[in-house]
Amino acid sequence: MLRSFLIYLSKAAWAQRVVTRWGFAWRMASRFVAGEQMDDAIRAVKELNARGINATLDQLGEHTSTASEADAAAAKIVRLLESIDEADVCANVSIKLTQIGMGLDDAVCRANLSRILAAAQGQGNFIRIDMEDSPFTDKTLALLGEMRALGYGPETVGTVLQSYLYRTDDDARKLLLKRTKIRLVKGAYAEPAEVAFPKKKDVDANYDRLTALLLDAALEQAPPQNSDGRTPPLAAFGTHDQKRIEFGKSYAAQIGLPKASLEIQMLYGIRRDLQEALAKEGYPMRVYVPFGTHWYPYFMRRLAERPANIWFFVSNFFRK
Ligand code: FDA
Repeated sequence: MLRSFLIYLSKAAWAQRVVTRWGFAWRMASRFVAGEQMDDAIRAVKELNARGINATLDQLGEHTSTASEADAAAAKIVRLLESIDEADVCANVSIKLTQIGMGLDDAVCRANLSRILAAAQGQGNFIRIDMEDSPFTDKTLALLGEMRALGYGPETVGTVLQSYLYRTDDDARKLLLKRTKIRLVKGAYAEPAEVAFPKKKDVDANYDRLTALLLDAALEQAPPQNSDGRTPPLAAFGTHDQKRIEFGKSYAAQIGLPKASLEIQMLYGIRRDLQEALAKEGYPMRVYVPFGTHWYPYFMRRLAERPANIWFFVSNFFRK
């Protein structure tokens, strides 16, 4: 209930106007966001790299409302790829398709994505297409398919699948046939029971089933060479849930999969202790580092995931 309300607020323009006006809201958001400028993000990546952790950078933004905004967002992402090269950091890039024109104009989105992938391919970097809410799932996967047909291979582009959706098993099998690199997450949006498991225990059980599917597929490939910290292995697990991570680790060990084939990803500012412990254990660890001025919807989804964050937020407000 509270989760759905917060997710509703994450999309409400009026709430965005109210919340982003409070300076203290940004101070709270900055627990999850590396800063407003690209330099802030590169600095955060350097700190992670120094601790043996790779990054995926996200220039925050979604649901742009004009083609020129979408083009400008794509230009910033291309610039971000250049900054990664210039700073020589271990990072790739995550993007949202509604940021570069999906839902606005498919041709604009297609042209922008192709431009971003061409830049990534030229630099030997990797773009992860984040998965947004279910009205965009088919379109996202179709556009990914088009890009693969244009010659952008699995070393250049991959995507995200969500264990709360009933359809994900089918999607995963299709993507794995093409060796598409997948980040498995539980899913961060409010979805109706017609498309997604309403109960957390079912989402978790499906996460474990899909983990096994991805790891079995990873076994059929030569162990990845991830020394550049950019190209991820076939299977990546975006979760802070220790039970899910333990399941993945023990399943991989059981089938004889090397640690290098099992990347674990977490969000900036969440479970730093676990991030460090997993990196020390020898698992490839990657942190999702968002930055930029469009932090509001991302921040609200982080509040929705964990009610305790709201009390942290409220108590800081009254402490002022
Ligand atoms: P769960 O919600 O069960 O949390 C497990 C534990 O993690 C909690 O008990 C708490 O300790 C900690 N935790 C989780 N969320 C927290 C928070 N916000 N604040 C503080 N502690 C928290 N979703 C999506 O729909 N599309 C996408 O493309 C992505 N991409 C993505 C990338 C990466 C790297 C990650 C880690 C996650 C995503 N997500 C996502 C978000 C994902 O779907 C999910 O909403 C969150 O990861 C929270 O779920 P957990 O798997 O962590 O489990």
